[in-house]
Amino acid sequence: MYLYGVKPEDAKERISLLTKELNHHNRLYYVEANPQITDQAFDALLKELEQLEAAFPQFASDNSPSKRVGGDITKRFQTVTHEYPMLSLSNTYSEEELVEWIERIEKTGLDAIEIVAELKYDGVAIGLRYEEGQLVRAVTRGDGEQGEDITMNVRTIKTVPLVLSGDYPEKFEIRGEVFMPIDAFNRLNEDRESSGDERFANPRNTAAGTLKLQDSSVVATRGLDTFLYGVYGHNLPFESHADAVRAAGTWGFKTPDESQRYLQVCTSVNEVMAFIHYWEEQRHFLPFEIDGIVLKINAYDHQRKLGFTAKSPRWATAFKFKAKQVVTPLLSVDFQVGRTGALTPVANLLPVQLGGTTVKRASLHNADQMEKLDLHAGDHVFVEKGGEIIPKIVGVDLSKRNQEATRISFLANCPECHATLVRREGEAQHFCPNDKACPPQVIGRIQHFVSRKAMNIDGLGEETVQQLYEAGLVKNVADLYALTHEGLISLERMADKSAENLLTGLQKSREMPFDRVLFALGIRFVGETVAKKLTEAFGSLDQLQQASLEALLEVHEIGERIAHSVLEFFKDEDQQAIVHALVQAGLRFESEAKVLVSNVLEGKVLVVSGVFEQVSREQIKELITSNGGKNASSVSSKTDYLIAGEGMGPSKLKKATDLGVQLMNENDFLTLIGYGK
Ligand code: IVH
Repeated sequence: MYLYGVKPEDAKERISLLTKELNHHNRLYYVEANPQITDQAFDALLKELEQLEAAFPQFASDNSPSKRVGGDITKRFQTVTHEYPMLSLSNTYSEEELVEWIERIEKTGLDAIEIVAELKYDGVAIGLRYEEGQLVRAVTRGDGEQGEDITMNVRTIKTVPLVLSGDYPEKFEIRGEVFMPIDAFNRLNEDRESSGDERFANPRNTAAGTLKLQDSSVVATRGLDTFLYGVYGHNLPFESHADAVRAAGTWGFKTPDESQRYLQVCTSVNEVMAFIHYWEEQRHFLPFEIDGIVLKINAYDHQRKLGFTAKSPRWATAFKFKAKQVVTPLLSVDFQVGRTGALTPVANLLPVQLGGTTVKRASLHNADQMEKLDLHAGDHVFVEKGGEIIPKIVGVDLSKRNQEATRISFLANCPECHATLVRREGEAQHFCPNDKACPPQVIGRIQHFVSRKAMNIDGLGEETVQQLYEAGLVKNVADLYALTHEGLISLERMADKSAENLLTGLQKSREMPFDRVLFALGIRFVGETVAKKLTEAFGSLDQLQQASLEALLEVHEIGERIAHSVLEFFKDEDQQAIVHALVQAGLRFESEAKVLVSNVLEGKVLVVSGVFEQVSREQIKELITSNGGKNASSVSSKTDYLIAGEGMGPSKLKKATDLGVQLMNENDFLTLIGYGK
C-alpha cells in the first residue's frame, strides 16, 4: 500500500470505514457463521487497516478490529510447514456421480477393490505428530501447505493421547478431526446465555474458534473431542488404510468404531450405498455433527497407483448430504425479551416434520436476519436442517406470497413494557433498556437467581417465581428471603406442604458458597467460571465492591468488558440495596478459608508463565494459594516472583527484568515451598 502523502483527515475517515466493515464481517463470520466475503478479502481489509494505524497511530483505537482475537490471532501461533501437504477432498452431492467415481476406478484395471466408507465429521482438520510415543506437535490444516502450531490447546483435549501405548511406529503423523459434541456445544451456549453473552452459532465454528484461543485453560473446559482417521509416515508396516486405522486404535487414539458402523470396509457399490443411506437417516441421532460420508480406496498399493490431482487424492472422495428442506407457512413472529433485555424474534410455524423431529418454531436471531429474509405476513418459508441441530429459516417461497401482504418489521418498542428499544454500536441485538421495571427482565433475574446452577432453591420453579412476582410478593431477589408461610399459601395452587418446601429451600440456600451467590446475582458477563475467579481473587463482598478497575483487570481472564460490568453493577444504588438485604438475610458473601499447607508465600504476589515439566501450570497456581500466596496474571510493580516455564513470552520476561521482579524456575519454586528435589 502506498501511504506517502495520505492526508490525516482521509486516513481518519478510511480507518473508521475499515473498522466498521471489519467488525461487520467478523460478526458474520464468528457469530452468525455466515461469512459474506472470502478470508482473503477480509485479510486484505485488515492489512490495510493495520498499515494505516501504524502510519497514523493517533487514530488507532484500543478496540480496533486489528487488535481483536479474530483478526490478529493467526500471528500468535507459529506457522509450520506440513511434511505431507494436507489435501482436500473432491466432493459430490449426487449418487450418480459417486457411482461414476467408483466405476472410473474399476476401469483402471485394479483388482479386488475395497472401499472404506467413513463418516465425514463436521469439525476442524488436525495433524498430530508423534515421536517415540510422545505427542510433539499439533498443527491446523491452514492453507494445506502450512498450518498453525496449536499444540498447547490440543493437549487439553481428553481423547488426544499425550503418550502412546502398544506397538507404534517411532515417528509418524496422524490426522483427523477435532469437533465439539452437541452436548458440549449446548452446555457452552447455556453458560453463555446465563452470563449474558451471545450464543455461538454452530459446533464447527465454535470448535475452530476454541482451538485458536490463547488461553489453553479455557480450551480445556470446552469439551472438544476427536476422531483420527489417517496415518502418515515413512515405511509404515500397513498394507491398507483400514489396517492403519485399526492399529492406531490400539495405540490409544480415538478412531472410528466399526461395530458402531462409523467405518465399514465395502466390497461393492451396493454396500457403499447402503452405508450412505443408513447415515443419511441416522445422522440426526449421533452425538456429533457430520456433513457427509468419505470414501477411500483401502489398499495403499491402489492408492499409490491412483495418485493425486493438484488439489486432492484420486483415491478418495466425499459424498455430502443435502440439507433437508421443507416449506411451511409462517403463522406469526414473537419477540422474546430475555433476562438481559435482549430481544429475540422467533417465528411460529405450522408444525412440520423435518429430519426426525417436528418443527414448530425457529429463531430469527436479530433484526439483520429478519431484514435479509424480508418476511411478509402469511409467507411460506423454507426451513432447513443440515448437520446442525437447530432448524433455520433460509428463505421465502416468493411464488406463494400474497402481493397485498404487509412486511413484518422489527419492533421499535419493547413488547412487554413499551420502552424504546436500543441497539448499541457493533451489536446485532436490540435491547430493552428498562432493566429496572420491564417484567420479563425482572422476573428473569429472579428465575436465574433460584435456578439449579445458581442458588438451586428447591420448590421454587420458574412458574412460581412468575406467580410471586405477579402477586406483588417478590419484586427482587432479596424479597425471596422475606417470604412467609401465610404469604405463600395465599397464592393460588400453593399447598401447605409446597410452601413448607419452598421455605426450607430458601433456608438451605443460605449455605450456598460465595461464588454461587455472586453468579446468582446475574451481573452481566459474570458466568459460573468468572464468578469463581472473582471470588478466588477477592475473597469477600467488601473486597470485591472496593476493587478498582486495575485490580479487576489483574485477575486472570478478566477483561475490560467484564470488569466494567462488575463496577457498574456495584455502583448502582438499587443493586447495592438488594445486595445489602441479601447480606442481612444471611447469605454467604465470603469465600471459605482455604486450608493452608504453609504460609511461606504469605503476602507474596506471583505470576506463572509458560509450560512446566513436573507439574502443570494450574497445579502451580493451586500450590501458590495453598501456601498463602496470591496469583496475578500479568507482571506489575506489585509482583514478587515470576515463575518462568518453557515458552514464556519475551515481553513478560523483559517487563519482569525491568521491574526487578525475581525470576524462578519450576525447581526453585518447588524447593521454596518445600517440595524440591
Ligand atoms: S480424509 C486426503 N476422512 O473433510 C484426504 N477427511 O473436505 C484427507 N473430514 O479436510 C481427508 N471427516 O477436515 C477425511 N473421515 C474423514 C473425514 C475428513 C471429515 C474433513 C477433513 C478434510 C475435509 C475435506
